[in-house]
Amino acid sequence: MLKIGVLVSGGGTNLQSIIDSIEDKRLDASIAVVISDNPDAYAIERARSHSIRTEVLPRGGFAAREAYDLALSALLKGHGVELVVMAGFMRILSRPMLEAFPMRIMNIHPALLPSFPGLNVQKKALEFGVKFSGCTVHFVDEGLDNGPIIIQAVVPVKDNDTVEDLGKRILAEEHRIYPQAIQLFSEGRLRVEGRRVFVKGGAEADSALENPVATIFGG
Ligand code: GAR
Repeated sequence: MLKIGVLVSGGGTNLQSIIDSIEDKRLDASIAVVISDNPDAYAIERARSHSIRTEVLPRGGFAAREAYDLALSALLKGHGVELVVMAGFMRILSRPMLEAFPMRIMNIHPALLPSFPGLNVQKKALEFGVKFSGCTVHFVDEGLDNGPIIIQAVVPVKDNDTVEDLGKRILAEEHRIYPQAIQLFSEGRLRVEGRRVFVKGGAEADSALENPVATIFGG
């Protein structure tokens, strides 16, 4: 069974959706360890309450990003991790991690990449005036929210949305697609060619979405 290591920094709702998917037998994987860079992350409590091993690796003790990532990769390898899952882990990874886990690190981002990489992206999407936003699961490379895209889910942006409303709508989709992406990996169904990720046996979507749907041409 695929052994995953989940990296967290905060509330851990994505971690929770992965735990729930495993417990409901929708995801065929086991969580070998949850690692947080933030000792106060609520995600740690979530892991502990499901008897999952946890480690805290604060950034403070390391002078350079590479030194931190070397220690992080050693910790993950020590727990036998085969796939690294970044679930709200707010750090950009450097060479030691990317070399230790080539195309074996996933991240989830609350926007339709390549639009709105970085932080506070729900607010940026609202302010920009996009009609759709969503979330993206992707493999991690050296860029910020940049690697090959595995799954995206789209949500509408409504006229009276607050940042919180939009964030909640996106988060619900995150909780749906992240376990799916991990399951596809665990079934060996993801093939990466350059920037493109193909899903073996995946169905194709061929219809368009329109937002807002205005009645213009009669009907
Ligand atoms: C999620 O919305 C995730 O997409 C985002 O942090 C949140 C973590 O929530 N990650 C990023 O913005 C990474 N660029 P959670 O701790 O409740 O899972």
